[in-house]
Amino acid sequence: MTKRNCLSIVLAAGLGTRMRSDLPKVMHPIGNLPLIGHVLNALKDASSDRVAVVVGPGMEDLEKLVTSLMPEASCHVQAERLGTAHAALAARSALNKVADDVLVLFGDTPLITPMSVETVRCALAEGADVAVLGFEAANPFGYGRLLIKEGVLQAIREEKDATDEERKVSFCNSGIMGFRGTIFLDLLEAIGNDNAKGEYYLTDAVEIANEKGLQVVAVAADEEDVQGINTRAQLADCEAVFQKRMRGAAMEAGVTLQAPETVFFSHDTVLEPDVTVEPNVVFGPGVTVASGARIRAFSHLEGASVGAGSIVGPYARLRPGAELSENVHIGNFVEVKNATIGSGAKANHLAYIGDASVGAGSNIGAGTITCNYDGFGKHRTDIGAGSFIGSNSTLVAPVTLGDGVYVGAGSVVTENAESDSLVIGRGRQVVKPGRAAEIRARFKAARQAKTKT
Ligand code: UD1
Ligand code: CA
Repeated sequence: MTKRNCLSIVLAAGLGTRMRSDLPKVMHPIGNLPLIGHVLNALKDASSDRVAVVVGPGMEDLEKLVTSLMPEASCHVQAERLGTAHAALAARSALNKVADDVLVLFGDTPLITPMSVETVRCALAEGADVAVLGFEAANPFGYGRLLIKEGVLQAIREEKDATDEERKVSFCNSGIMGFRGTIFLDLLEAIGNDNAKGEYYLTDAVEIANEKGLQVVAVAADEEDVQGINTRAQLADCEAVFQKRMRGAAMEAGVTLQAPETVFFSHDTVLEPDVTVEPNVVFGPGVTVASGARIRAFSHLEGASVGAGSIVGPYARLRPGAELSENVHIGNFVEVKNATIGSGAKANHLAYIGDASVGAGSNIGAGTITCNYDGFGKHRTDIGAGSFIGSNSTLVAPVTLGDGVYVGAGSVVTENAESDSLVIGRGRQVVKPGRAAEIRARFKAARQAKTKT
């Protein structure tokens, strides 16, 4: 069989009124990726040749987002929101180039898998003119019902237009439909708006195709893959499914999750085999953890990479640009931002390392702070290999310390030091033997004099 080419039209012009949000619905995230991004990813994996996204008027941010996620996708504006068929026609210019298959998908159905998309395309390849992806709904309320007679999909009836009898049907429209490219425009242009909502329903294409004697089929997906998001509660439901999938995939790939239900992933989290994640860990976007590393409980990581065999946490925070080599230890209440930490280096307690580099094998004492911000700009702190920064040191950036430098505890370091220097950045200690006892005696005498009067 020659490869069929495919145009996918993603409808995303709706306001998402039921979300009660200023943000267009498809820009709300799950796994820290906007809903539309999940749909585009599924299409990439299902190798859709071309993608057209239909947005609403004034949704420039959404257009920018689509372009950043998929530069080759085209955006089309649906000037008025007159229904899903009207929306699909807004992408008319994308149809100037012939496509064997035209798929229509909704931007608010983020859990769609490449396999479900393939199911629809297979039906078209096998000769269907129209293929609808349906699912058995636990609660069909609000969905279009697939009306099947003698094995043939006759029509899709929207909730508001359905009879009581039709409402009892639980096999529902997921919103994903496939069309033979050559008939797509004719079918859509034949759709009217004589229904309860006065909208042009894409779903009416089914009845019209039947009238024209075309072949219409329904194929099935799991409800979990096609659940749509109209409300914040449904957003949370989809997030839960997404997290369950990510946890499952991580364990499948050889990662130990001690309490999987307490670990939160982003869409792009990469954990290599033999990573261990303790309970209550959050992975923000852009995290990579190499083999054998351990992320201890209550840590928060984003935009960070953790080298093989490293230990992070408990209670550690890795912010964007934190790059840990192998066998690094970042302990409790340590924050690392935009900093490279060399192999075997340690910062075990209560420290802030920002805009910095720490050489291999160095030890950063408890309470060490890189003062990277002077109220105007950010400055760097560079620490060589094998250095020792005593506890509670304040490294005032910009400052550079060579290899093997030893900084005494409690130092305020403002000047560079060459390799193997000893740096003591604090006033000389004053010790006056017997002076404390003298002071106590003086206070005691004063108190006694007061009680006598
Ligand atoms: C739609 C289907 C229904 C299906 C359900 C699955 C129709 C008529 N109904 O209902 O059969 O069971 O999805 O979730 O197709 N949109 C536009 N422009 C418009 C209207 C909608 O771009 O003028 C977009 C929305 O942004 C959204 C999608 O189309 O991504 C679906 O619209 P929505 O209003 O959510 O349809 P449902 O009532 O959920
Ligand atoms: Ca919907």
